[in-house]
Amino acid sequence: MLEALNPQPQDKILQLIALYRDDKRAGKIDLGVGVYKDPTGLTPVMRAVKAAEKRLWEVETTKTYTGLAGEPAYNAALVRMILGETDRAASVATPGGTGAIRQALELIRLANPQATVWLSAPTWPNHPSIVKFLGMKMAEYRYFDAKTCGVNFEGMKEDLGRVAPGDVVLLHGCCHNPTGANLNAAQWAETVKILQKQGAIPFVDLAYQGFGDGLEEDAAATRLIADSFPEVLIAAPCSKNFGIYRERTGILIALTSPDRKAVVQGNLNFLNRQNFSFPPDHGARLVTMILEDAALTADWKAELEEVRLNMLTLRQNLADELRRLTNSDRYDFVATHRGMFSRLGLSEAQVNRLRDEHAIYMVGDSRINIAGLNARTVPILAQAIVAVGG
Ligand code: LMR
Repeated sequence: MLEALNPQPQDKILQLIALYRDDKRAGKIDLGVGVYKDPTGLTPVMRAVKAAEKRLWEVETTKTYTGLAGEPAYNAALVRMILGETDRAASVATPGGTGAIRQALELIRLANPQATVWLSAPTWPNHPSIVKFLGMKMAEYRYFDAKTCGVNFEGMKEDLGRVAPGDVVLLHGCCHNPTGANLNAAQWAETVKILQKQGAIPFVDLAYQGFGDGLEEDAAATRLIADSFPEVLIAAPCSKNFGIYRERTGILIALTSPDRKAVVQGNLNFLNRQNFSFPPDHGARLVTMILEDAALTADWKAELEEVRLNMLTLRQNLADELRRLTNSDRYDFVATHRGMFSRLGLSEAQVNRLRDEHAIYMVGDSRINIAGLNARTVPILAQAIVAVGG
């Protein structure tokens, strides 16, 4: 049987991790996978997470299964963090953000197998990969303007105007991955109007809440969408904003009408049961402890803010350095982008040269992880970009 298997295409981001690991050059720089690193290059366990873990070890009395949908307190705390108060949310705990996306897509397929899932061009490579794997219909809407490295809003609007009623449109709630280019408030409002007119179902991937303009600010678009549509799906991991990547902690929220909520919840539970039964709980428990304790919440928010501001400083420094070296403003977009990533607009050949000649690793589409930089490496990257003709 197994001899019938064909090799699967490599995931570009994961491939890069292996290439970087195998590079023996001293001073190599990793701007690949979206993992936060502090100025010393470490991905720290956040202080509040450590404190919660210590407390959990003391108070935890059982490792028996959690609820099929997760612990109600976790779901409630996270729904509140993302949406504020709402009584329209069915939700399930999932293994990370990918688990939430997968469950959302399976829910869509269950409800409407004919629905086309619209993805931004470009998007996180795992989005199209999972849609394709599930055999669902897929379409793209223009998003990135390669000339300005900002959003091609005219193109986006035109393409969203072709969405059919009942189609699902996947939107990055904040901090677009891989480009770093985001809609402003007026553009979000316009997008909502178009999607309402088309009769689309919005599906928000909110992987980076707290990494862009702030925890509340980054939820604004998602909240606007929640208030504007009868049905919305939201996939959110705690991997990034709580720094608990390997704990696989996420949530899928399905907003619906009160009379449909029980059936929707039942379907979410059913999908969890089919795919992995009970969701993981350790990370979820830590998040709950933090969000239910005022002192831990305050400390977590303060550290998250340090993380966000550190990335903003790195953005500004890189933009300044490139402005100085190129004597032009063509990289100013790096400072206006938000989140963990910026797509620099370099060619694949230039990206390869950066890797081969300068030991600088970024994804082939020239996406850099801003948090992979520090005060020492910002000028090194800027010089290397110029050296490869960027
Ligand atoms: C990324 O985009 O680098 C992260 O979301 C990590 C991943 O799983 O791809």
